[in-house]
Order: sequence, then C-alpha cells, then structure tokens
Amino acid sequence: MIKVINLYKKIEKKIVLNGLNLHVQKGKITVITGLSGSGKSILLKTIVGLVKPDSGKVIVDGEDISTLRGAKLINFRKKIGFLFQGGALFDSLSVFDNVAFPLREHTKLSKKEIESKVMHELQEVGLADSVNKLPSELSGGMNKRAALARALILNPDCLLLDEPATGLDPVMAKIIYDMIDKISTKGITVLMISHNLQAVSRIADFIAMICRGQIIEYNIPDKFFTSENPIVQQFISGRAHGPIGLNMGD
Ligand SMILES: Nc1ncnc2c1ncn2[C@@H]1O[C@H](COP(=O)(O)OP(=O)(O)O)[C@@H](O)[C@H]1O
Ligand SMILES: [Mg+2]
Repeated sequence: MIKVINLYKKIEKKIVLNGLNLHVQKGKITVITGLSGSGKSILLKTIVGLVKPDSGKVIVDGEDISTLRGAKLINFRKKIGFLFQGGALFDSLSVFDNVAFPLREHTKLSKKEIESKVMHELQEVGLADSVNKLPSELSGGMNKRAALARALILNPDCLLLDEPATGLDPVMAKIIYDMIDKISTKGITVLMISHNLQAVSRIADFIAMICRGQIIEYNIPDKFFTSENPIVQQFISGRAHGPIGLNMGD
C-alpha cells in the first residue's frame, strides 16, 4: 500500500531521515516507534506530502506522490486520513463542524447527508452527546476521538495516526486502540506512531523502530520484543544505560 524508498530529509543542520525504507502492508496495522525527536512525525508528514523530502520516494497504491498534481493530488489526500500529534482540532469549531469540515471541503453532499454521516461517525467514537462542544471543553480522550472521527469521515483507504493515545489514561488508551483495531478489520491500512508498545502489541501486525533516520527493526510483535538489537532491547526495557545516548534523540 505504502512504499517509502530511500527517504532523506535534513532539517536545519540535522539529518532527520537518513535513507529510510519502509513497506506498509495493505489492510494491516503497522506501528512506528522510536525515541522522541527521532523523526517519526516528520516521516508521517512526508508520507502525506506535507513535508517534501530532499530525496527518495513515497509510493502510495503504485503512484509516486511527488508527481501528483490537481485532481489526482486531491483524490490522493481524500484516500488518506491523518490524525496529527496532539489531535489538532480547529479550536473555534464545534466537534460537529470539525468532523464535517472535510465533507464540506471535498464533497458536494447535502446538509442532511453531511449531518447523517457526521452523526454516524461521532456515534462510532462515542461522542454523539458532545457535538456542540468546542475542543477546549473536551477531555484529552474526547479530543483524540473527535480527531479520529474527522480522520475517518471521508472513508479513507489508509489511516495515519501520530500518537493517537499518548497522554491518555490506560483505560482511555485501550478504548482508542480497540477502536483502531475495529477500523482495521474493515480493511483500512493503519500506520500509527506509538511509544506504548505493551498496549499496541495486542493490535499491531508489525512494529518498526526508527533510529538515526533509519528503520533499524521491523517485525511482528513477538519477534520485535525478542530482537537482539541492543538499541531495540534498551528501548523496550527503558534502561538508562546502553547504546542509546542523549545525542540520539532530541
Ligand atoms: N519545525 C521544525 N523546526 C526545526 N526542527 C525540526 C522541526 N520539526 C522537526 N524538527 C527536527 O526533526 C527531528 C524529528 O522531529 P519529529 O519527527 O517531530 O520527532 P518525533 O520522532 O518525536 O516525532 C527533531 O529532533 C528536530 O530536530
Ligand atoms: Mg512526533
């Protein structure tokens, strides 16, 4: 579904992506993990075309996204749902209007059709009672669920999620991961950033770890956890001593 080929990106003087390769399999849940500042968010933004790589390619459904223009680019954007780190709802719009926004931008649906789709999506994430609230009136978990509903509203083939449950309590995190698991069973390809490996291992098909701008481990969860790579081992166990130093992340 998504092929990331030899991606390079330098920001200020730092090489953030250093020849990164990753194949995201169709219909599966792939989790990307790694230290804070290791380039996970930049990778996701490069995949959707919000960040331009210095070199390398992103192929989605057989098409090089850097070559897309006009209607093809718009269609590509509609196929991918994106949840930004922190949720990033529009502060001045209600929950309803946030979720309706992509429909008003990209479709010619009637007011009634939009209302019915938005209400359906909000019901799916348990927010049917909060349609008129502003983002500032929502808890962290509600914010993330509203952002999830917005990412799903155009029925994307692929969902990119940047830390969809970070900062939430374990129960709300589990509820969100269960929702993502359910979404995946509908055949949607999910690429998700998460640090919470214990919680995501239940739903992940593959876990990839990014370090120094490259994917250093990519495997099914069981094999990821028993990786012999000392960097992966230190990351999983959260030990302060090992190959990971203060010079590697932020
Ligand atoms: N807007 C920016 N300005 C300057 N540097 C940035 C910017 N965004 C990201 N970076 C650099 O890119 C690195 C990777 O950032 P990011 O992808 O956000 O990391 P994370 O893995 O925590 O998501 C950061 O350590 C930082 O050095
Ligand atoms: Mg990030």
